[in-house]
Formats: sequence, C-alpha cells, structure tokens
Amino acid sequence: MRHIMVLNAKGGCGKSTLATNIASYFATEGATVALADYDLQRSSLDWLERRPANRAKIHGVAGFEGGLRRVPRNADILVIDAPARSHGDELVDLVKHAETIIVPVLPSTIDMQATATFLKELQAIGKVERKQVKIATVANRVRDNTLIWDELDEYLLKTRVPYIAALREAQNYVRAYTRGLGIFELPEYLAWPDWDEWEPLTAWLRSVRSQP
Ligand SMILES: Nc1ncnc2c1ncn2[C@@H]1O[C@H](COP(=O)(O)OP(=O)(O)O)[C@@H](O)[C@H]1O
Ligand SMILES: [Mg+2]
Repeated sequence: MRHIMVLNAKGGCGKSTLATNIASYFATEGATVALADYDLQRSSLDWLERRPANRAKIHGVAGFEGGLRRVPRNADILVIDAPARSHGDELVDLVKHAETIIVPVLPSTIDMQATATFLKELQAIGKVERKQVKIATVANRVRDNTLIWDELDEYLLKTRVPYIAALREAQNYVRAYTRGLGIFELPEYLAWPDWDEWEPLTAWLRSVRSQP
C-alpha cells in the first residue's frame, strides 16, 4: 500500500483540496483508495459524505480518532490529509505514516515564510534525513501575472525540495468539493486547464521519484 500524505503546518494552503483530488484521481484510475483525515475539521471526510454513490468508491478513515487501524487491508493507495499546526513529536509521528509527502504552498508572504520554517523542521526529522520519505512542493491558488506568484515560483525553485506543479486558483476546485468529486471527474470542457496542470503531479506520484 502506498502512503501519500498532504502536509504543511500552515492552515488553508490546500491540503484537503489536494488530498481529495489525489484520492479521486487514483480511484477513477481503478485503484482501491482509502482517504484518512487527521484533521478535526474533517474536510476530507465531509467531502466523502458528499460523494455520489455512483462514483469510484473511496474508503474514509477518521485518522484523528483511531489512527490508521480502520484502513482496509486491500487498499492500494492511502491518502492522508494532515492537520495544520503539526510540529514537534506530533509531526514526527505523522511522518512515520508516509513515504511520499506533498507540501502545498500559497502565493503569499505569510505562507512562504511559514513554509520555509516548516520545511526546515521537516527536513531535520530522522526519517527525512535518511531519505526514507520523498517530499515535493506544489504551488497552489496561483494567479498569473502577479508579483507574489513570481516570488513564490522563485522561492520554490530555490529550496532543496523538488517543486513539481503549480495549480491555478479556480472555481473548479470549489465546485468539485461541493459535489464530492475531484477535478478529474468534472467535464473536460470545464476542467482541462486543471488536468494539464495536474499532469506533472500525477506523473511524479506514479513514478519511482516519489517513492523511497
Ligand atoms: N486551487 C484552488 N483554487 C480555488 N480555491 C482553492 C484552491 N485550493 C484551495 N482552495 C480553497 O481554499 C480554501 C482552503 O483550502 P483547503 O484545502 O481547505 O486547505 P487546508 O486543508 O490546507 O486548510 C478552501 O476554501 C478551498 O476551497
Ligand atoms: Mg484541511
């Protein structure tokens, strides 16, 4: 079973948005997928409750209650939606559950600053130092032709962590969440620009580059 975690100590950067879309991506590809929500805000579990019964099934797990005990044994992919404000021992514990970590970052000075601090803490964890977990960053809610986006792009290219995708700010994410879907499950005429932007992210997830 693959364990893919979406993690950043900063709130509101798109962890649940990425987690639900990654789960929907693999489910629509035919994989058996579980989605574990470690955040008491339950955004991923709420999304699953909205999911239509005729869509590819995703097993929800309340990670904040019982950890990963309820994850079905036959799952191919486990996506973990991590809580904000994870630091210290709690962060070390979370990282134990992952071989692949995606860190979403917003184009905002506060978020870049917080992420720089967070990446430092993450990289000092033994499991990360020993390269037993692969980490990548994703720029999220990008708006073209803004100075702050140029700054974020420059910052992410400079960090030692692979920077694999930039996702635009789009109502499609809001629309899809409301309907319990991922952007891959929206009609092509609406969602093709987002599909294109996700391509490097899903390619990375499918490749050995994201697996220790
Ligand atoms: N690419 C995007 N385009 C538009 N809205 C987005 C995008 N990513 C996230 N959002 C919105 O931003 C808010 C925070 O995202 P969320 O995934 O809940 O972050 P987190 O789980 O890190 O707190 C939500 O309202 C979500 O719908
Ligand atoms: Mg969340």
